[in-house]
Amino acid sequence: MRSLDYIFKPRSIAVVGASRRIGSIGREILHNLIAFDYHGKVFPVNPKADFILSIKAFPTVSSIPDRVDLAIIVVPRDQVLGVVDDCGKKGVKGLLVITSGFSETGDEGRRIEQELDERVERYGMRMIGPNSMGIMNTDLAVHMDGTFAPTLPLVGRIGFLSQSGALGIAILNMARRLDIGFSFFVSMGNKANVSNNDLLEYWEDDLQTDLILMYLESFGNPRRFMPIARRISKHKPIVVVKSGRTLAGALAVSSHTGALVSRQGMDIAIDALLEQTGVIRVDTVQELFDLTLGFSKNPLPRGDRVGILTNAGGPAILATDAAIHLGLKVPKLSERTQAELRHLLPPEAAIHNPVDMTPIPDRSKYEACARLLLEDDEIDSLLVISVPPIMVSAMDIIMGIEGLRREFAKPILAVVMAPEDFFDALNDKFPGHMAIYHFPEPAVRTLAAMERHRQWRDEPLGSVKMFQVQTRAAEVLLAEVRREGRRQLTTPEALHLLECYGLPVAKSVAAASAGEVVERAKSLRYPVVLKAIAPDLVHKTEAGAVLTDIRTPEELDAAASRMGESVSRARSGQAETSAPLGFLVQEHVRGGREVIIGMLQDPSFGPLVMFGLGGVYVETLRDVVFRVPPLTDLDAEEMIRQIRGYQLLEGVRGEAPIDLKALAEILQRFSQMVQELPQVAEIDINPFMVFPTAGEFCAVDARVRLAEES
Ligand code: COA
Repeated sequence: MRSLDYIFKPRSIAVVGASRRIGSIGREILHNLIAFDYHGKVFPVNPKADFILSIKAFPTVSSIPDRVDLAIIVVPRDQVLGVVDDCGKKGVKGLLVITSGFSETGDEGRRIEQELDERVERYGMRMIGPNSMGIMNTDLAVHMDGTFAPTLPLVGRIGFLSQSGALGIAILNMARRLDIGFSFFVSMGNKANVSNNDLLEYWEDDLQTDLILMYLESFGNPRRFMPIARRISKHKPIVVVKSGRTLAGALAVSSHTGALVSRQGMDIAIDALLEQTGVIRVDTVQELFDLTLGFSKNPLPRGDRVGILTNAGGPAILATDAAIHLGLKVPKLSERTQAELRHLLPPEAAIHNPVDMTPIPDRSKYEACARLLLEDDEIDSLLVISVPPIMVSAMDIIMGIEGLRREFAKPILAVVMAPEDFFDALNDKFPGHMAIYHFPEPAVRTLAAMERHRQWRDEPLGSVKMFQVQTRAAEVLLAEVRREGRRQLTTPEALHLLECYGLPVAKSVAAASAGEVVERAKSLRYPVVLKAIAPDLVHKTEAGAVLTDIRTPEELDAAASRMGESVSRARSGQAETSAPLGFLVQEHVRGGREVIIGMLQDPSFGPLVMFGLGGVYVETLRDVVFRVPPLTDLDAEEMIRQIRGYQLLEGVRGEAPIDLKALAEILQRFSQMVQELPQVAEIDINPFMVFPTAGEFCAVDARVRLAEES
């Protein structure tokens, strides 16, 4: 048995704190186990009762004469550790702790939870909770409802993980109404021992589970989530409802990257993570159910072409608009299909896609037309819309379409714009019926999500390339900055750091004083750019510390002495001016397109890589995309393609396209750098100049700030 099998496939369960008291959680759990016909042995444990719900009870777990795989603990918090010791003595390997009052309540609770987890580890157990609402496994061989939810689950092929117990109950209720069944339901509680990631891995090869739903409030370990979710979502869709969290104000940032992250909130990190792992994110529980219906009751489409069959114009227009907006196609039907439709329908019917049969088609018309659309090779999925006319029963129409589901391996979704009682009657009459929606938009959104998931599955995984770089030299450089008590690198230092990772930088030389500038710049081609360098000089443009387009050595000489004076004057008002002023002379890079490459460390998420259009307007345009490193080759290419200004990189009005492959490699090198140098808190490379030929690429300016020493 795998360790989590003791929890999810137990052969025997002790309910510790089982009670006769009506309305107590201990009684409800025991009752649900029996009511759902759990297929193993159940032992109520309660020192004060001989029998509970007519089953013999035991005073302690260790006094049970049989083996116990899982103990469900429903005793007051102060009793929990003692019960765990007793379970340890008995050799119990699985725990489900319902009791609350642990880390969710403050320091004292946190301390007890830590103690609880230590004991669980010491006894070699696994534990769900504490503060869990319970677990279910509907597999016929187990049939366990170990929750205190008032509704028993329907059997299905969906694994549901909920980080909120209360919401879990609501979801179970609603799922039953919608005829959605589960293979597993797990309320995770405080996740002291078994994490979301553990559970995902457990479901990876589970033969009862085809679709995974998650309600998340936080990401425990996003780095571990990434490879697991990426792997699983290639063969099982994962749909996540994640409530948003904003970071605004939480980080002290000094870079463009930081400012852009703060402004957009931490949601961008989560979006990036989910996008990179093929996980489908929805914003509401309603949307979660919409998608669940579509995914659980249909095969995936083979492409993006939707056929729409309707008896009313309005909803079909809404559906078409939504489809186009979401990147689906509503193509013309084949000549043959059109001819057959023409033959079948009255002259006023529309035989293009959407096919509008006009108001009063009966079941046989619906069925015949739907069949024609499904047979058409131009169509990958079918949306059937019915606004029930008075004389024809919507139920009848749905029955007709139901028959086609078995014949065609294409998704068929229905929209029935009928009163609520139609849906109630439907569940009674046809359990397991097709996915039916009240309105066109949610149905189309579901089809779009299914198609996106199909594309994700068909895409290769991509690979993370490791480059030969000078990590050691980079570390020495950073250690030197630290030794000087600084966190901000000077521009030459920052550019040198980039070079350690094979990121090209503009040709430049440093000079220690204004007098040396011309001599040092001899190897450069004019025009040049002059920058003043000092550790406390971060915003150089504002401090008058950058002069561009200097054409001759004479101009350079004059510029250097002028800049020396003006910057010294500006710095004289500052408290810390001890560091000597130096200069950087750089060849003036012209003709390229400006991009920004950035990184920000989030305390809980780790590094985030940013790419977008660069230059001085970066914070105004906000045309940037984020990803969580490590970046695969495909991640890097997609980042570039996803910015709004992508066309500018491809070239407009006859411009040559920039070398996108080379730019993707730059992003991967950058990703390697931020992974290998966790002591760096923020990086902005802005602008990074890109050209049609990779040989001309270069970073012109870079800011690097180290993390605070821990
Ligand atoms: N071994 C076995 N049984 C024990 C025990 C022990 N060491 N200590 C107490 N019990 C018995 C009690 O005698 C009682 O049985 P009784 O009704 O026959 O007297 C039963 O366990 C429950 O104890 P009680 O003191 O009545 O507690 P309670 O039922 O009021 O509350 C919890 C217990 C666990 C439900 C409560 O502490 C709790 O945590 N509630 C919140 C749970 C929750 O909502 N979790 C999910 C959040 S999403």
